[in-house]
Amino acid sequence: MPFKGVDLEEIKHSKQLRAHALRVMGFVNKAVARLDRPDKLIPLVQECGKSHFYYGANIKYIDYVGPQFINSIRPSMEEENQWSPELEEAWVLLFQHIAYLMKTSMRNEMHQ
Ligand code: HEM
Repeated sequence: MPFKGVDLEEIKHSKQLRAHALRVMGFVNKAVARLDRPDKLIPLVQECGKSHFYYGANIKYIDYVGPQFINSIRPSMEEENQWSPELEEAWVLLFQHIAYLMKTSMRNEMHQ
């Protein structure tokens, strides 16, 4: 929403967008640390969904973040021969899980 009507080139250089990318990274870090603790992971992601409802984030954009994240980490890992189809699948599944929980919480807030 802060970018409505703003030129695409301006958005690419936006400090706000870069700051959000770092927030997503920080969030992924926390989520990965809780992978074997669904009792901790699920409420973390639900809270994130709830806060995004109040930020006014459009639910239809939530699914775009995972593929962008994967595209941004893939090149350097490929260079180090650390990328594999299994790894990609694992990231896709993690983001599907995050996006599903976030969107469910956003919808729940919407219907409160
Ligand atoms: C998987 C998807 C996403 C993740 C993991 C994520 C993560 C985060 C995190 C961790 C924060 C910091 C504050 C908080 O924890 O609530 C945040 C803030 C925010 N997010 Fe997201 N976000 C996602 C998608 C989106 C989308 C699609 C939008 C808008 C279309 C958005 C807009 C915002 C805004 C406006 C803020 C508050 C201001 C800011 O910190 O930049 N987010 N997000």
